[in-house]
Amino acid sequence: MQATTHDSVTQRTAPGSRDLALFGGRPAFDRPLHVGSPNIPDRKRLFRRIEEALDRGWLTNNGPLVREFEERLRELTGAAHVLATSSGTAALEVLVRARGLSGEVIVPSFTYVATVHALQWQGMTPVFADIDPDTGTLDPGHVEQLITPRTSGIVGVHFWGRPCRTDALRRVADENGLALLYDAAHALGSAVDGRPVGSLGDGEIFSFHATKFINAFEGGAVATSDPALAETVDRMRNFGFGPGREVLTHGTNAKMNEISAAMGLTALEHIDEIIAANVLRFEHYRAGLAGLPGVRLRTPGAGERSNHQYVVMEIDSAVTGTGRDQLLRLLHAENIVAQKYFHPGCHRMRPYALRSETHQPLPLPGTEQLAERVLVLPSGLAVTPADVDRICEVVRLALTAGPAH
Ligand SMILES: Cc1ncc(COP(=O)(O)O)c(C=O)c1O
Repeated sequence: MQATTHDSVTQRTAPGSRDLALFGGRPAFDRPLHVGSPNIPDRKRLFRRIEEALDRGWLTNNGPLVREFEERLRELTGAAHVLATSSGTAALEVLVRARGLSGEVIVPSFTYVATVHALQWQGMTPVFADIDPDTGTLDPGHVEQLITPRTSGIVGVHFWGRPCRTDALRRVADENGLALLYDAAHALGSAVDGRPVGSLGDGEIFSFHATKFINAFEGGAVATSDPALAETVDRMRNFGFGPGREVLTHGTNAKMNEISAAMGLTALEHIDEIIAANVLRFEHYRAGLAGLPGVRLRTPGAGERSNHQYVVMEIDSAVTGTGRDQLLRLLHAENIVAQKYFHPGCHRMRPYALRSETHQPLPLPGTEQLAERVLVLPSGLAVTPADVDRICEVVRLALTAGPAH
């Protein structure tokens, strides 16, 4: 099977020819290669944990697996408290409520829509700040310009696992009396100057959705070192109940169940191996795409550690002559299911573009630039290093064949 798929790439005529199989022959891969295929490192251990949970008859409501999962996350993030939740979105909704945010909250437009929806769903007005196109994370200078008397907080996103410029954002937040929270859905295991993500903001959230490199089918968590905030999050994720079953606050059902925790724990036991596998694939991409004009792979900044779950390729179509969307179509035809993570910016999505209270200065040039240029390539355990080498061959072929398509 491997040989056949490999042949379908290598037996093509030379780059530059218009007879490339790429544009009409068999796909390069006979199975689709995705971004974010689930990593399932140890099925036996997972099934054993699930059996034990079933035998205990304790399936949810702060069970032993959830507590163990939270403990492992505390160790990993350095946060004093971690509260597991049913999803990353639920974690953010609970966190912003628990921290008492209201009115306007500054957030990047360049994020997955869940970040922005969570604020809006809690009755807040998301105010879109631009990102620095070099890092893909919030531009602290632009954040500062957007602060009004109605602003209550900043929600940064450690996008693609890259930590935000947290020292600059902290200064802006402190000088203006604002909460500083982070959406760390992409960034478990990432760090900056030895400080792990999860310990950078007043509170941070993680996602363990099936597409994340550590997954719990669905799941999330809030990390914080503020004991009062942790207590409120703990209550709010469980209908507002206090320790004595008295309802002490408003709340919702955002609890994680034991089956999800079994999956999350089992994956966490392999986090170092999975990150090493991500790094290996990243290095294969780096070598395979080296020297290709108009193509750049994003790399961690100085002092940063990344989990490398996303391999992000930036395309300068003025150089390649092939646009990002054109390349994406070609890759999809070859069963290389790369993704635009994310496009368009949230400020261009219907519910936000049409709202009447919008007041942010448009356009957001860093957001627009990045949203038009980036592609996330397949990676993770389901994609072998040999697959990566072949993907690079296809990308090369596609970009050097010229605009014949
Ligand atoms: C940046 C970001 N924030 C929030 C979420 C929401 O997490 P969940 O799907 O666990 O609700 C996701 C992805 O799923 C995400 O990519």
